Amino acid sequence: MKITVVGAGAVGATVADNIARRELCHELVLVDIKEGIAEGKAMDMNQTATLLGFDTKVVGSTNDYTKTAGSDVAVITSGIPRKPGMTREELIGTNASIVKTVAENLLKHSPNIIIVVISNPMDTMTYLALKSTGLPKNRIIGMGGILDSSRFKYYLTQALGCSASDLHAVVVGGHGDTTMIPLTRLATLNGNPVSNTLDAEALKKVAADTMIGGATLTKLIGTSAWYAPGAAGAALVESIVRDEKKVFACCVSLEGEYGQNDICLGVPVVIGKNGWEKIIDYKLNAEEQAEFNKSADAVRSMNSVLSTLTL
Ligand code: 2OP
Repeated sequence: MKITVVGAGAVGATVADNIARRELCHELVLVDIKEGIAEGKAMDMNQTATLLGFDTKVVGSTNDYTKTAGSDVAVITSGIPRKPGMTREELIGTNASIVKTVAENLLKHSPNIIIVVISNPMDTMTYLALKSTGLPKNRIIGMGGILDSSRFKYYLTQALGCSASDLHAVVVGGHGDTTMIPLTRLATLNGNPVSNTLDAEALKKVAADTMIGGATLTKLIGTSAWYAPGAAGAALVESIVRDEKKVFACCVSLEGEYGQNDICLGVPVVIGKNGWEKIIDYKLNAEEQAEFNKSADAVRSMNSVLSTLTL
């Protein structure tokens, strides 16, 4: 098993670190466009191998995609992160051409690859990767909902004083401050709807905090977060390489599911060795479906910006 992570910034390096620690592959290639960064971070990670007890070999590469040849899975984190006050959507001009070039380079050397997209605006970058590579839809997965769901569970643990591992809670829709939809109605604590414990106002606050979860961190840190995005990316890769069939909310191509077409948007999917293998229908009620449609409209209008860019 060989995995490539493109982008050796904070998110990419954290994804890579988690993958190496969990020994998800024999060889892990870390690529960055900036001279020496990937090689340096790869060497640093390799020097933790005896301390942490892993055998994955990490290889750094300054933009040399021949080193990625034969990868089974790649994670794209390249592009600029947001600064305080910026939305993920404002990154489109810079990140679109980067993501398109990276996806095409990966495919050139690894025709059977499964691509996980983390770069923002993630829903649009996933759509772009799908269109520019022409890969079968199951092999392009956007990482957003799994991260947002873990933030949702974090805020629920704060409100409920419970263990995060007892919670099931999912965020669908776009990976944007105003486009994500924390499904409070379906959130449960050991099977018991959280609405039996939290009143409507408390649930509304949890949902609102979740939606600005990334922005809150950006304001505190001065740039995008990396621990949870890195862990979420690695969890997604783990379910692919170990064929775990875990259900995660991921951004995937919709062809009529959840009432949408010609768009990549966050829905619960089964993740296994073939990429995303099945979409699970959570039977949204009318109000949730209206929110989902609104989210799709916003993402579709962001996707339409792609045709105005020279890529
Ligand atoms: C986040 O929400 C990086 O988009 C990612 O933190």
